[in-house]
Amino acid sequence: MIPTYSADMDPEQFRKYGYTLIDWIVEYFSHPERYNVLAQVRPGEIREALPPSPPDKPEAIEDVIDDLTRIITPGLTHWNHPGFFAYFGTTASGPGILADLLSSTFNTNAMLWRTGPAAVELEVVVLGWLRQLLRLPEGLFGIINDTASVSTLVAIAAAREALDLGIRERGMAGRPDLPQLRLYTSDQAHSSVEKGAIVLGIGRDGVCKIPVDSEFRMRADLLEKAILDDRAAGRKPFCIVATVGTTSTTSVDPVSAIADIAARYGLWLHVDGAYAGVSGMIPGMEWVLAGVEKADSLVVNPHKWLFVPFDLSVLYCRKPEILRRAFSVVPEYLRTTEEETAINFMDYGIQLGRRFRALKLWMVIRYFGAEGLRERLQDHIELGRKFKQWVEKDPEFELLAPVLFSVICFRHIPSPYSHTMDASTDRLNIHNEKLLDAVNATGEVFLSHTKVNGKYTIRMAIGNLRTTEVHVKRAWELLQEHGRRLAKESF
Ligand SMILES: Cc1ncc(COP(=O)(O)O)c(C=O)c1O
Repeated sequence: MIPTYSADMDPEQFRKYGYTLIDWIVEYFSHPERYNVLAQVRPGEIREALPPSPPDKPEAIEDVIDDLTRIITPGLTHWNHPGFFAYFGTTASGPGILADLLSSTFNTNAMLWRTGPAAVELEVVVLGWLRQLLRLPEGLFGIINDTASVSTLVAIAAAREALDLGIRERGMAGRPDLPQLRLYTSDQAHSSVEKGAIVLGIGRDGVCKIPVDSEFRMRADLLEKAILDDRAAGRKPFCIVATVGTTSTTSVDPVSAIADIAARYGLWLHVDGAYAGVSGMIPGMEWVLAGVEKADSLVVNPHKWLFVPFDLSVLYCRKPEILRRAFSVVPEYLRTTEEETAINFMDYGIQLGRRFRALKLWMVIRYFGAEGLRERLQDHIELGRKFKQWVEKDPEFELLAPVLFSVICFRHIPSPYSHTMDASTDRLNIHNEKLLDAVNATGEVFLSHTKVNGKYTIRMAIGNLRTTEVHVKRAWELLQEHGRRLAKESF
């Protein structure tokens, strides 16, 4: 049957359920205590609660909302919960959520300028705003990707293309005569760097992990030595990835010194500021992005610590013509007359289709204003400073890394050992793993871990707009309480 009416949901129904769901969202945010932050379900439990086959007949939206409330929501780990302190704190803020609703409404695809002129131009404008907020140089090209993993992959591809070795045409396999390509990053860098190297045929053997100093920063002297050793051995250094805010401890590599080395040996420098880069906008924290102006590319993730709902990662690049050389493939069906006068973002990355993500960054920046964003970041740093002081004051806890932003790395050392430190690392590792599990099992908070110098390390990552001092304090109480209890049981 050929429809003579809109085949979509009836507009009045849309209005009704739209209001219902907005109310649902407000209720959800008003009562975070109703949900465990870390989902307390076993693998397969949610799947079993859902019908294995799709419905033949239309179902009432009320029933769908009911299942959402009963089955899906309790089976989620709640990243927007004020007690979420794992990995890096993130926030889907109100303006960001509303913008996502609009983005779906337009369903625009910003692949070419003509397929979404306002979406493309808003992306250019809003990335210009973010660049100014971060005090980065004028003239930087910016593009929105889904994640930092993709932004970094794209940057490494550009670094490879900059070598002009014909790899784009012949592939790595078509150049068996090439020396081994080498990429340098610290042994604290995010796994996405290694993944990028794998995808691009550099291979894990092509990644040289440079040791760090006592504060987990890449050793620039060892970087230079590694480059010289590789050159002497006939390998081809081509790229350095420095990190501003490493995942484990949020350490900051000496970008300026690394940039000088990159310039000296003609290597591409990419800076991974996925988490901490945005804090460069805070007055007095210019040091965060110092030296980045000399880098070839930089990634920052507004979906991490700038209150934009997942996903939105920004890649800035000083050499967009190289990005374009690496990625532009224009078949006839995508040719347009504006190629010379407008940006077609599909030419600068992997994706053809691109969601209208700029809208949510625009809404978030306009709603909070630059001052509001800076204040909120500062508040998180202040909460982090308080938590750090509590850790430092309690003789049963040990701080394991400097606190530069709002992530605190620490472990519990039960009192008989807190002074003598004679409990073995293994024993303390098991104890701290149990402590983390116990605290997370309360459902009130969710923290994650890492290993620092072989020590099991609990990470407290503050970064959600709904988190207040009450939530941070509660996490601390739970850690103290369960630390003492478990110590009695096993020490
Ligand atoms: C320093 C750093 N870089 C990159 C990433 C990857 O981010 P994404 O999930 O956006 O790919 C992370 C994730 O936590 C990170 O901490």
